[in-house]
Amino acid sequence: MKSAQAAQAVDGAVSVPSSQSVVEALVGWYVANARQLPWRQTGDPYAIWISETMLQQTRVETVIPYYNAFLKRFPTVFDLATATVEEVLRAWQGLGYYSRARNLQRAAIQVVAQYAGKIPDQAVALRSLPGIGAYTCGAIRSIAFGQVEAAVDGNVARVMARILGIRESLNQTGVGRRIAQTMMQWQSQAEAGTVTQALMELGATVCVPRGPECSCCPLDFICVARKEQAVTEIPALKKRPQPQPIDVFALWLVEENRIWLQKRPDTGLLAGQWQFPALEIAAVSEKPDGYDGGISTIRHSQPIESRNSKPVTAAVRLQTAFGHILWPENPQDGVPVVRERLAAVSPRNSFVEVLHVQHLFTHLRWRVQVVRPLSAHICTDLALRAGWVSVPLDSCAELGLATVYRRILARLYTSR
Ligand code: ADE
Repeated sequence: MKSAQAAQAVDGAVSVPSSQSVVEALVGWYVANARQLPWRQTGDPYAIWISETMLQQTRVETVIPYYNAFLKRFPTVFDLATATVEEVLRAWQGLGYYSRARNLQRAAIQVVAQYAGKIPDQAVALRSLPGIGAYTCGAIRSIAFGQVEAAVDGNVARVMARILGIRESLNQTGVGRRIAQTMMQWQSQAEAGTVTQALMELGATVCVPRGPECSCCPLDFICVARKEQAVTEIPALKKRPQPQPIDVFALWLVEENRIWLQKRPDTGLLAGQWQFPALEIAAVSEKPDGYDGGISTIRHSQPIESRNSKPVTAAVRLQTAFGHILWPENPQDGVPVVRERLAAVSPRNSFVEVLHVQHLFTHLRWRVQVVRPLSAHICTDLALRAGWVSVPLDSCAELGLATVYRRILARLYTSR
């Protein structure tokens, strides 16, 4: 019953392959074929934690230079805990998913305060740290501390689903548990961290989503998907919802080589990053996106539907949000705009389109229209009160400008 091909009952009804020879094949393959990645040259739990955090949703090739630079800048958890958020975000700039960086720093502060700077090896303590979920906890505990704990990322889930012949969707109840149990069984028969890394490596280099190289796979002899010629059908594809279109109207406010920027809220999308002052409006249809590139006045004669009020144009929405700063009654002492003054600025002619770009997030599709107000007179007082700052165009990059706005800036301004 315990040959490599044999199945062993685990958790009652579930049948999973399990044998020393499976693990030997996997680990043997890993030792001979693993890529030399910087986080594989260390046993430092802090470094492993950084790498696993960076590797979430980000490719290995992208992560390598960031990982090296980050550890050079923050070699220990103490360095990370005492850094400013801005410094950490700067080191993270370009990696995306910035809440990971914020959480890392919060967690570092917690590790210093509660655990004297020692990364905890217990699951409860690790999971109490910001940003450490089941995956990161399993990765840190198995790789850094050699403990038996599953770490199932996308690559591992695919490998295991194929080997076990799981045809259901991976988020179906019980599937994750079945995969985790098999992984832990294998981890218990060798160095746990090596098994974790071997499965990740197999998923990244051999058992890839499309065109897996089954002839190179050390586990082909137990792979149910291979046996059933179902490799391309497993794992079952999740239907991703279409990213929701969002119309973003961003103000290009440049005076004497300085630009006005606004910080995004500390939570949510692009938390705490800088952007042009902007309005984000959930688009009600795909239609308004039909830009032809040659139009000079903001296309805001197009109405924005609102469920419970009359349609308004985007220009009016911009005026309502920012008019008191752009066209103050008395720019010098910041007396708020009076109604008549605002009304005098015709919505149709108050903004000019400067640039239009699209930016994709996993769940959102931003259609960013960069617009410039015509003959505005920015009231510094009111702008500062709204949380805007005016910074030299040349030093924007140091602020942690959101990637989409860095893209826009690169098109609108080239530093000399
Ligand atoms: N993806 C997530 N963790 C990884 C690791 N330790 N090595 C390679 N790719 C990974």
